[in-house]
Amino acid sequence: MVGRESASRPLHTVRTDDAVRILQPESHRKGAAVVASTLDLLPGHAPARLVVLVSGSGTNLQALLDASRDPAYGARVVAVGADRDAIQGLARAEGAGVPTFVHRVKDHPDRRAWDLAIRDTVAGYEPDLVVSAGFMKLLGPDFLAAFPGRVVNTHPALLPSFPGMHAARDALAYGVKVTGCTLFAVTEGVDDGPVIAQSAVPVEADDDENSLHERIKVAERALLVDYVGRMARGGWTIDAERKVTVK
Ligand code: GRF
Repeated sequence: MVGRESASRPLHTVRTDDAVRILQPESHRKGAAVVASTLDLLPGHAPARLVVLVSGSGTNLQALLDASRDPAYGARVVAVGADRDAIQGLARAEGAGVPTFVHRVKDHPDRRAWDLAIRDTVAGYEPDLVVSAGFMKLLGPDFLAAFPGRVVNTHPALLPSFPGMHAARDALAYGVKVTGCTLFAVTEGVDDGPVIAQSAVPVEADDDENSLHERIKVAERALLVDYVGRMARGGWTIDAERKVTVK
């Protein structure tokens, strides 16, 4: 929001068990508990603080870095984390003067220890939103419980079609004529969180996996920048039916 006066305001608090139930698909919800609440999420800071997680080339990160040069965007990248060293995504962050951190799974005794370590590092940056942008690890329950409704991911397909690591390849193999990208709130499942926004991309007759994925990534960057900015400026809600409204 342009001209917001307060430098910070309290984060809305939500009960983690409510948040977990809201974010999960019906089929994954335990028990018959009725979820009556809505996650009503606002950034606690102006501009909103983004922590971005990457594993590779970081073009989505770069799009956020570029957008946040405009103060009117309403968000800035305060840290970039990775699960591996020596990737272009980290170099992009360093080039922009943004602090970086790396937690490799193999440097921790087990996956839970890794999850706790990355949670604690991210929490230290007090993010309003954690953006998984080409981060090739599943974040665990300890991480997600620390930021309920505040972890988003971008996926190169129109979910629920083609979840997983090879979305463009799977879309081509199926023979769909239209695919696209999805921004969603991360849950413990694989690419099954509440959908925030989607954008369609046509499949061309001569596409291979790379050409299709690159065309999707153009749409993905635009969608990510658009919706992260809107969330940062106005907040968002996730209701009991997992419907996301970006204000
Ligand atoms: C994106 O298509 C993302 O959805 C997928 O990996 C790609 C990352 O691209 N998981 P980049 O690292 O942001 O360039």
